[in-house]
Amino acid sequence: MAKISFKPGNMLYPLPVVMVSVADQAGNTNIITVAWAGTVCTNPPMVSISVRPSRYSYHMLKETGEFVINLTTSALARAADYCGVKSGRDVDKWKEAKLTPVKSDIVKAPCIAQSPVNIECRVVQTQQPGSHDLFLAKVVAVHVDEQYMDEKGAFHLEKANPVVYSHGGYYDLGAKIGKFGYSVQRVKKT
Ligand SMILES: Cc1cc2nc3c(=O)[nH]c(=O)nc-3n(C[C@H](O)[C@H](O)[C@H](O)COP(=O)(O)O)c2cc1C
Repeated sequence: MAKISFKPGNMLYPLPVVMVSVADQAGNTNIITVAWAGTVCTNPPMVSISVRPSRYSYHMLKETGEFVINLTTSALARAADYCGVKSGRDVDKWKEAKLTPVKSDIVKAPCIAQSPVNIECRVVQTQQPGSHDLFLAKVVAVHVDEQYMDEKGAFHLEKANPVVYSHGGYYDLGAKIGKFGYSVQRVKKT
């Protein structure tokens, strides 16, 4: 199998693409789209986002040390893209992307009503590895849209049509091809 070598760069795809809502101490709010986001730790629940200091949202993150990760869906892909190409310096993204702020339980930054999952986060550590600052944060509250809950209390995120970001494109998830541990599961004989 022949391979072509690329210069070192970010090729870890696909990734979640999320809308991160932020607020400053004065109560001004904004939304920034982030693909450099990840899960850090299960217990305590921790996540990370990487944000360039040049972003308008950056000072808000630094000021309050809080943010909300709002998951995106096919229906929200256009809004997520908009929040990733326009700056809060120039436009009111809530209004222009038709997104509704909802008061969060714990953090100052509002949740996005239209998002199926809102993850309230509080920054515990910031690092400056290079072009982006890395914000390590503790998850302090999670809200999920009740329309994706079943009668047994299970949450079906797939029904919200989550979107992933891969090498410059947005994609639906496609068909489910397995579940956690299926490779070692015994197949029932009929
Ligand atoms: C798909 C996508 C992913 C992005 N990921 C990041 C990211 O991880 N970190 C970052 O700093 N900017 C990222 N951006 C760029 C910012 O979202 C963009 O510069 C935005 O306009 C900043 O908004 P603000 O100036 O209102 O804060 C991304 C943009 C898009 C479209």
